[in-house]
Amino acid sequence: MTNKYLYFVANWKMYGDLKTLNSLDKIIKFSKIIKQKRFKLIYCPPSTLIRPLSKRLKKTKIEVGAQNAHESENYGAFTGQINSKMLKNVGARYVILGHSENRQLGEDNKKINLKIKSALKAGLKIIYCIGETLKEKRNKKTNQVLSSQIKIGLKTIRNKSNIIIAYEPVWSIGTGLIPKTNDLIKSILFIKNKLGKKPSKILYGGSVNGDNIKKLKKINIIDGFLVGGASQDPKKFIDIIKKTIN
Ligand code: 13P
Repeated sequence: MTNKYLYFVANWKMYGDLKTLNSLDKIIKFSKIIKQKRFKLIYCPPSTLIRPLSKRLKKTKIEVGAQNAHESENYGAFTGQINSKMLKNVGARYVILGHSENRQLGEDNKKINLKIKSALKAGLKIIYCIGETLKEKRNKKTNQVLSSQIKIGLKTIRNKSNIIIAYEPVWSIGTGLIPKTNDLIKSILFIKNKLGKKPSKILYGGSVNGDNIKKLKKINIIDGFLVGGASQDPKKFIDIIKKTIN
């Protein structure tokens, strides 16, 4: 996995406050000494931390992303919501969309499609999460689910160069479980095939940790990792990165 761009994306979910940002000194230092040049490090903290984090990371190669965005391109009467333009304005360069934790709250592929288009217009890069639930996997519906998430989620978007796909089987998120190597390869190839001639980068997410990374890194069709729990601890995150690039 060493001669292409590798992505390491930290999804902090609803964790972290201003004090937490101090823990990033370790990762900033690490990012400066790392020899492997072809890697991208992206932190997606809660929205409250996007501004302070992007200030702190100004002189580094680490970029900042958001975890969700409203679909409206304009300001509006949407209490509690934030759109992509506002996220860009405070320093976000990426946004995670379609995360299963938001799908579980009622987001469907059609709404996610609107969010993706709005975020692209605002100039953000997208990390689009797709993946099947345990029930869908058991019912052998994985390909069908991935197919409609891609078809509807990316409907009418011709230029996908600013879209990164994150394959996150729902049953692997926060459970310590990862797919069998063969199943993972099959799903990634299926996604690549659905995306057509110019396939986007494809990341894997779901219980990535310092142990299973040795197995995951061998799958060279994966372009990087979207890490939840382990990304909150800089030591664990650095360990994952080191083990991947060495
Ligand atoms: P965990 O790494 O905690 O399983 O979370 C994965 C995830 O949801 C990243 O978006």
